[in-house]
Amino acid sequence: MKIINNIKDLRDYLHQYRSQRIAFVPTMGNLHAGHLSLVRHARQNADVVVVSVFVNPTQFTAGEDFERYPRTLETDSKLVEKLTDILFVPTVSEMYPNGTNESTKVIVSGLSDILCGSFRPGHFGGVTSVVTRLFNAVQPTVAIFGRKDFQQLLIIQQMVKDLLMPIEIIGLETCRENDGLAMSSRNGYLKPEERSIAPYLYKNLLEIKEAILNGERNYPPLKEKAMNALSKIGFTPDYISIRDRKDLSVPTVKTPIEEIIILGAAWLGSARLIDNLEISSQ
Ligand code: PAF
Repeated sequence: MKIINNIKDLRDYLHQYRSQRIAFVPTMGNLHAGHLSLVRHARQNADVVVVSVFVNPTQFTAGEDFERYPRTLETDSKLVEKLTDILFVPTVSEMYPNGTNESTKVIVSGLSDILCGSFRPGHFGGVTSVVTRLFNAVQPTVAIFGRKDFQQLLIIQQMVKDLLMPIEIIGLETCRENDGLAMSSRNGYLKPEERSIAPYLYKNLLEIKEAILNGERNYPPLKEKAMNALSKIGFTPDYISIRDRKDLSVPTVKTPIEEIIILGAAWLGSARLIDNLEISSQ
């Protein structure tokens, strides 16, 4: 595995592989088993695997955890070295040559403004702006993301479609701890007592799924009940929402249940946890 810090070296190196299938896994580091499943998939489905580690400042809104976001490059590089050809670790100035306030931003309007976007204004604009830059630097055949960040996945799919980027986007299943908690770098912020109640976010999504599978079609009370249950045990929920997974619109009674996704975001101590559950898997 080669560690590369700048775009010129990355392009020079990838030049010889341009006719081959290049898989790309963008990350912010602090890699866990969820990331590794993406990298493994990349290895099995491509000739060349590029993983990036870049804690992107523009996707953190004011007062968020940019400064304390865990930076564990040494461990990360050991975790992926056998599966990866290039670990791309750019600096902020490499990704934003004119500074992070530069005028060129990539924004997928609409989808970026709802759900997590309404609680973290500007967040998805930061994601799509950096993912575009990363895609331009790597020019992969395929890029792999986790379905835990389902809204992010949909936004990136939309962006690639709208901007005619010739990149296949793959979204892989959420990896969970044994008690159901979705794996996330931010789980490390949880204190022991918070960690023990954290799986209740997923448990509440499971209960909603169960109710829908049992025929419940009146969705608002389902999400109200889950929000109340989470608040009672110590979460501060941002939202629980039942949506159509095609475009995250609010489903009607006519929406086929296979298309429904239940999404949630809630604070627990200083960690903002997100999770989702699709009624039927892809
Ligand atoms: O999902 C993430 O880790 C980040 O949002 C991404 C896609 C690497 C962009 O910074």
